[in-house]
Amino acid sequence: APLKVTKICCLGAGYVGGPTCAVVALKCPHIKVTIVDFNQARIDAWNSPDYNLPIYEPGLEDVVRQARGRNLFFSTNVDQAILEAELIFVSVNTPTKKSGVGAGFAADLNYVELATRQIARVSTSSKIVVEKSTVPCRTAESMRTILEANSKPGCRFDILSNPEFLAEGTAIQDLFAPDRVLIGSLQTPEGKSACESLVEVYNNWVPKQKIFTVGLWSSELSKLAANAMLAQRISSINALSAICEATGANIDEVSNAVGMDSRVGPKFLRASVGFGGSCFQKDILNLVYLSESLHLPEVAAYWRQVVEMNDYQKRRFSKRVVDTLFNTITGKRIAVLGFAFKADTGDTRESAAITLIRDFQAERARISIYDPKVEESQIWQDLQEASPTVPLVDIQKNVTITHSVLEATRDVEAVIIATEWREFKLIDWHAVYAQMSKPAFLFDGRLLVNPDELRQIGFRVSVIGRGE
Ligand code: NAD
Ligand code: UGA
Repeated sequence: APLKVTKICCLGAGYVGGPTCAVVALKCPHIKVTIVDFNQARIDAWNSPDYNLPIYEPGLEDVVRQARGRNLFFSTNVDQAILEAELIFVSVNTPTKKSGVGAGFAADLNYVELATRQIARVSTSSKIVVEKSTVPCRTAESMRTILEANSKPGCRFDILSNPEFLAEGTAIQDLFAPDRVLIGSLQTPEGKSACESLVEVYNNWVPKQKIFTVGLWSSELSKLAANAMLAQRISSINALSAICEATGANIDEVSNAVGMDSRVGPKFLRASVGFGGSCFQKDILNLVYLSESLHLPEVAAYWRQVVEMNDYQKRRFSKRVVDTLFNTITGKRIAVLGFAFKADTGDTRESAAITLIRDFQAERARISIYDPKVEESQIWQDLQEASPTVPLVDIQKNVTITHSVLEATRDVEAVIIATEWREFKLIDWHAVYAQMSKPAFLFDGRLLVNPDELRQIGFRVSVIGRGE
């Protein structure tokens, strides 16, 4: 019979490991779940008495309040947690490589490999090792080789692939009621038995018909494929938004019309200033690299274009701002509303706002920023990384971080909406208009405002996917 799991360890207390395993603990009170990380500050935040968690995610605090100290633990004692567990989630970061072979495309598997070696070194009993991080195809094979070459007598390692499909901002909802849970395993009796053990964990709250078991390689590839196809929808609609702006068609109407075809479906067709987030670009570049490694250049070029269209969309938006403000923004004041890569998260990784602000800085504009959730220190760090050759003090001469929409928009010539925060739907535009320089320009990168209403107030409005 498959092993009944009673102790789980998760390596990596980030955006995926933290929420995912907190939900496992909540839904499986009979399983002890320990989430470990060597980042002491992160673990301290997870353990903070006033629930000042390291990640902002609606509903997360409630989950942690219920399970922490009961059967959910956060620790930096990685070895101890590995030693105890029967099942280990590897949920470490897999960023794009910055140097060496495949730089700029391939996934940096160093963290996955180090975690794997640590599991092999520390374990004194058999383990099911679950690859939760997003990885290139066949990574599980490398993990298996490392584990088998380093295991002690009597220690068996079974590897599963169990990619995560949660989206930030809706992570808890997505984890409570996932569209599917995907588990890949070797199709051997041992592989299938390990798979069954993990199925039983999820089946504490996910119905069996939503748990889809496949081979290891299909599972790994399906994760990259899902992200590539989601991002492709956005790039497709953004490509059409450029045609709309040039013709007078309205992208909202076009995407509704197209999405009403049940074969296409209405979701994920919202034109924007460009997709951001830690994964879409990284995973597509990963797929591009994989295709090239497999000598499939046409396939690589096809997927690469999804990222190129996204870069073009961001560039096109900055250029529209400059063009509309009479071809120069030097010395002009511009308010950027929103810095997170999407609403309901404090995460800024690959946020379109970073690229826009870098472009405005290059034109020597004066920028004020307001985001309801992103920490000030994070904004400075991101702006510094985006312009590595400019000293931070010089960046700070032209950028102000503010604490409200009204503070950000005082005396500015233009307002840019970069993130679709709900708070921005409730802005008192009369009050904003009254305190802006005239003519007052508004650029909506998120299809958030009603342009006709704003034009009545007096704004000059430019919306993604609409002519002037
Ligand atoms: P993250 O950077 O937020 O978290 C990763 C954590 O792992 C870090 O805190 C790091 O200190 C820790 N870590 C690294 N090596 C370790 C080790 N050996 N032992 C213990 N801890 C270690 O990253 P994330 O956003 O959680 O993403 C993790 C993986 O999940 C990535 O592969 C990503 O592609 C994938 N993913 C992310 C999302 C998302 O929405 N962010 C969604 C699905 C999948
Ligand atoms: C995405 C996927 O949706 C998840 O399924 C996946 O697990 C995750 O990546 C991952 O692998 O990391 P996430 O990046 O958190 O999740 O958020 P999304 O809601 O997908 O948004 C990504 C970006 O696309 C955001 O900048 C968002 O504003 C933009 N977007 C989304 C659009 O511009 N238009 C849309 O119609 C939808």
